Amino acid sequence: MPLIQTLRQLGLGGARATMQDWPGLIEAYRRWLPVSQSTPVISLREGATPLIPAPVISERIGKGVRVYLKYDGLNPTGSFKDRGMTMAISKAKEAGSEAVICASTGNTSAAAAAYARRGGMRAFVLIPDGYVAQGKLAQALLYGAEVIAIKGNFDRALAIVRDVADRYPITLVNSVNPYRLQGQKTAAFEVVDALSDAPDWLCIPVGNAGNITAYWMGFNEYRQAGHCRKLPRMMGFQAAGSAPLVLGHTVEQPDTIATAIRIGNPVNRDNALKVERESNGGFMAVTDAEIIDAYKLLGSQEGVFCEPASAASVAGLLKRRDEVPAGATVVCVLTGNGLKDPATAIEHNDSKFHTGLEADTDAVAAVMGF
Ligand code: F0G
Repeated sequence: MPLIQTLRQLGLGGARATMQDWPGLIEAYRRWLPVSQSTPVISLREGATPLIPAPVISERIGKGVRVYLKYDGLNPTGSFKDRGMTMAISKAKEAGSEAVICASTGNTSAAAAAYARRGGMRAFVLIPDGYVAQGKLAQALLYGAEVIAIKGNFDRALAIVRDVADRYPITLVNSVNPYRLQGQKTAAFEVVDALSDAPDWLCIPVGNAGNITAYWMGFNEYRQAGHCRKLPRMMGFQAAGSAPLVLGHTVEQPDTIATAIRIGNPVNRDNALKVERESNGGFMAVTDAEIIDAYKLLGSQEGVFCEPASAASVAGLLKRRDEVPAGATVVCVLTGNGLKDPATAIEHNDSKFHTGLEADTDAVAAVMGF
């Protein structure tokens, strides 16, 4: 069912509802979320992101498989983190908090900054110095966060912010905050609302494993309520240099071009293993080369620009293509917008880029091959 019908069913905007009436995910899915009338809703109208058919990738898989892209890069700060952050910040505000803190590979910091500032709170973000894509750093700064870059990786930053939040009056908004996952589960609701059932496979990049946990929660809640008949197999993909869930142990020095998922010690490890078991799913590593191939394919063939970490879901699907059942419906989650990381796009593409040309029609026509 298209989202617009969901809107109408929710009684939002009346029979003539348009997407302009989308109120943000807390209002849209209020009865599924731990909010009350006294919760101050801090929203940028996140959610309602498109489920885009991917004909070229479907064709590559063959067997009548239909592949869709859940493009969460179209959220207000450009990633799925907005889903969790509208909840975490609204609940922090409700509790009277005046400041929030998080560790981040970039996207969480952008979302925390935007929502916290909108809610009139201070935002402190710890990032691994030199390993955050430029767009994300720009966002955190522009939204008004206090940015602290440490000489250490994300795992170290997370340990520090957990310590700080234990000792001082400040709310932690990493995915150990349960409200984050509550907000993020709404992505599963939207997928079911769009397809009228759950997909057969859900392919998703995995770092701290919060999102895979949240999706599974969402699908289960919707099934219990009779909104979908089946549950998907949850297929999680990690970058080969940062694949603790595939290897079965912490990675001390995680490394990958997909900096968003450069994580060696996922906090939601136990939840992730439970999701794998319960959904008959699996974790698999994809190499940086496979991630970049999928990233370029998405951009140049499907017209969808995501960040490298997001492309891990498609790289993983292509890697497991032989296992996809004939006629299956597959959703690949594209967690973040490609514009967050322009440097990687400029470095990794197969396009022609003619520079330094004379400003002259004949010169231009000549390089065009005329
Ligand atoms: N994709 C993107 C674009 C991300 O930014 C992240 C996590 C993930 C996937 C993995 O999600 O951790 O729930 O398994 N980014 C965090 C951050 C760590 O700080 O922005 P996960």
